[in-house]
Amino acid sequence: MPEVFFETSGRRVSFPEGEEVNLLRLSLRHGCGVPWRCASGNCGTDRLFVVDGREHLSPMRRRERERLGELVEQGYRLSCQTYTSGNVTVRWDPDQKGLDEDSVAGQRLKARWLGAGDDGASSVADDDVVVTDKV
Ligand code: FES
Repeated sequence: MPEVFFETSGRRVSFPEGEEVNLLRLSLRHGCGVPWRCASGNCGTDRLFVVDGREHLSPMRRRERERLGELVEQGYRLSCQTYTSGNVTVRWDPDQKGLDEDSVAGQRLKARWLGAGDDGASSVADDDVVVTDKV
């Protein structure tokens, strides 16, 4: 099974072969710690440096490219705008500011976004995903 390695938090999440998964959704579902704020490509809080596996990522769309600017050439992606179909390793600056997910606004946004399912991506049932911590 392909695996996303969230290097900064040491979390690994595997998903079924043939699926395409959104990096922020995977992080939120499995406590991988990617900071975020808007989940819509606007704030840039969830920027990730792609260490490995760039070839498995979805093509970058205009909104993401405009938001990242020169960081695109340095190998960054926005996790909320990026899908992977294969092995990928990502990391981020632990000091990046993100939304407090325990706040009322954070809980509401998270629930709304996770429940949306209208972004054209395949959904992956939680039973099909394996999460491991770094050893
Ligand atoms: S969470 Fe704001 S751009 Fe992705």
